[in-house]
Amino acid sequence: MVYTFTDDCIIGITQIDEEHRGLFRLIGELHDMLGEDFSKDRYDEICEIVERLKQYTVEHFRHEETYMEAIDHPELEQQRQQHKEFCQKIEEMDIRSGESDQYGLVTDLLTYLVRWLYRHIIGSDLLIGKLVTVKEWKKQDDCAFREEYLTGVEQIDEEHRELLRMLGEIHHMIARDDAADKHAEIVDRLKTLHIYVRTHFKDEEDYMESIRFDGLDVHRLAHDALATRLELMDHDEFYSMSGDELAGFVEFMTEWIATHIVQMDRHISAN
Ligand SMILES: [Fe+2]
Ligand SMILES: [Fe+2]
Ligand SMILES: [Fe+2]
Repeated sequence: MVYTFTDDCIIGITQIDEEHRGLFRLIGELHDMLGEDFSKDRYDEICEIVERLKQYTVEHFRHEETYMEAIDHPELEQQRQQHKEFCQKIEEMDIRSGESDQYGLVTDLLTYLVRWLYRHIIGSDLLIGKLVTVKEWKKQDDCAFREEYLTGVEQIDEEHRELLRMLGEIHHMIARDDAADKHAEIVDRLKTLHIYVRTHFKDEEDYMESIRFDGLDVHRLAHDALATRLELMDHDEFYSMSGDELAGFVEFMTEWIATHIVQMDRHISAN
């Protein structure tokens, strides 16, 4: 489990990065307190940190949403929803309640906090500062694989090429005048892409395991974050998404994958 802010979390917007660091600092404090000498006398102190952490998070979400609003970021609604769910969840975890297993309650809360934050920062926040790929693609009418995507691991590079090729094709289909008639076909292609993404993540993780890559746990969390978003495709409602919704979804996926390759996959070979 990761209890510290790592470079993988840097999104490139100073204020947000600083606040994410601040969150991890509080999480670190809490983790240390739960360490060797958990005693009931320190429970008030622990509750106080948890309270500070809650307030800090709410404040941070507000800043992040304001920033996204200011730059008219397409993921704003998604982010709002995720932030809201998180706040509800930690509100429900009432660590002061009852005489029951307080240590267990705080440990559960801590695990939930860290997992959620890590996934959220890597899975969603990373895109806040990065929405350039799709715009560039549209300008140049080109979805080509670029030099900057190279990891130096042949199999991974090949799979990335294939991923981007599939995404490029879907982008073109969506941009065509007859896109509305091709709705079902576009959805089918996305489902095929989904299967490919899963295979690719698995291959990449297997490779990292084989070279005993240091950052495997963090990398897995990043993959899980996207996989969770893509599960949407397993549901029937996916077929009834409007053309615009589908286009937004594909753009999100493209940005995510391109950002992930540049920010994380490229570190695999440098291990
Ligand atoms: Fe966020
Ligand atoms: Fe990856
Ligand atoms: Fe990858």
